[in-house]
Amino acid sequence: MEDWRSAWALDPDVSYLNHGSFGPAPRVVQEAQRQWSARLQANPMKLLVRDREQILDQTLDRLASLLGCKNGDLVPVDNATVGMNCVARTLDLQPEDEILLNSHEYGAVQRIWQQRVSECGARLTIANLLTPIESAEQIVNTIEAAITPRTRLIVVSHVTSATATVFPVDAICRMARQHRVPVCIDGPHAVAMRPVALREIGCDFYTASCHKWLCAPFGAGFLYVHPRWQSRIRPAIVSWGGSTSDRPKSWQDEFFWPGTFDPARFFAIPTAIDFFEQAGWELFRSYTNDMVIRGAELFRERFGSEPVCPLNRTFLGTMVTLSLPDSITVPETWLGTPHPLQMRLAEKHSIEVPVFKWNQRAHIRLSCHLYNRWEEYLKLADAIDEEIPLL
Ligand SMILES: Cc1ncc(COP(=O)(O)O)c(C=O)c1O
Repeated sequence: MEDWRSAWALDPDVSYLNHGSFGPAPRVVQEAQRQWSARLQANPMKLLVRDREQILDQTLDRLASLLGCKNGDLVPVDNATVGMNCVARTLDLQPEDEILLNSHEYGAVQRIWQQRVSECGARLTIANLLTPIESAEQIVNTIEAAITPRTRLIVVSHVTSATATVFPVDAICRMARQHRVPVCIDGPHAVAMRPVALREIGCDFYTASCHKWLCAPFGAGFLYVHPRWQSRIRPAIVSWGGSTSDRPKSWQDEFFWPGTFDPARFFAIPTAIDFFEQAGWELFRSYTNDMVIRGAELFRERFGSEPVCPLNRTFLGTMVTLSLPDSITVPETWLGTPHPLQMRLAEKHSIEVPVFKWNQRAHIRLSCHLYNRWEEYLKLADAIDEEIPLL
């Protein structure tokens, strides 16, 4: 196995087991971003006014072929959060309308929709999806059971954040079509972690951050909008909304100029795709999946940890969420500041890994990218053993 760690500029003293929260970019991607920024500084008029649209188009071409859609279905946005806000602004909601999420959805996404529905007297419905997850049918059926005649949109993760579970988005979209309910997929973890074929999935919207598993620079996301919504989608930021070249007017114009910005982070996306093409998508996916499954087995042996979903490639990609021993408590008042165990692991053992509350219990989420090694998981297990009596 190649030494991938040197491809990243990670702090050599740190075991970085939290790519799932913030994914550092390999050196080549950082360099590409630097070069694009240098071109901006060398002549802002040329890069921003005369070249930007064409280079963004080339970026979207590469993304579209990776994601199984057309260039004209995608727009750049800073991150999945911005993409989700665009969708929330777009939906025309009446009093009593319902937006359907489930209990595994990301906290910020729940907030976006809570705010949106409260503006118009609509309602947020949260389908309660119990863990451990046992089957794809359980997920689809739980969501389906919460649909009512007032459901205007289903919002669902492709890969959930806290529970690190791959959701059967194709089946969810098929089911939703039978009920004529549109679907917005929250997909920041899935890009690179899984093959993603957007037109095939058949969703209405898909929002993602390329700075997670695809390792693009921070602040490089996209929003996919199905053609049936393209004339209606609204940007999160209203700006000029026009093109600086003579090309025909398009729905994408609203998104290509969010006010003055450095587009280098978007322009470096193709370099991130090149990086994976050279490394091999399958090598990345199988190496990381094998590692997190092995990590889950190690934690089961050492701490009796239970996974929140089946330990196989259908449900798991490059991260896994595991319960921690009951002796590791989660303070009742805990609101999201790092858990004391997370702090000790970071500060005393130089291990970055999230510890958080799920179903009233402490859980840990192990990530693996190409730069991670098995020894880091062993070091983590030893560090937890050492810390448990001290907590
Ligand atoms: C499932 C999910 N949705 C949305 C987001 C938000 O992503 P970003 O912060 O890149 O907008 C995250 C971030 O971790 C996430 O895990």
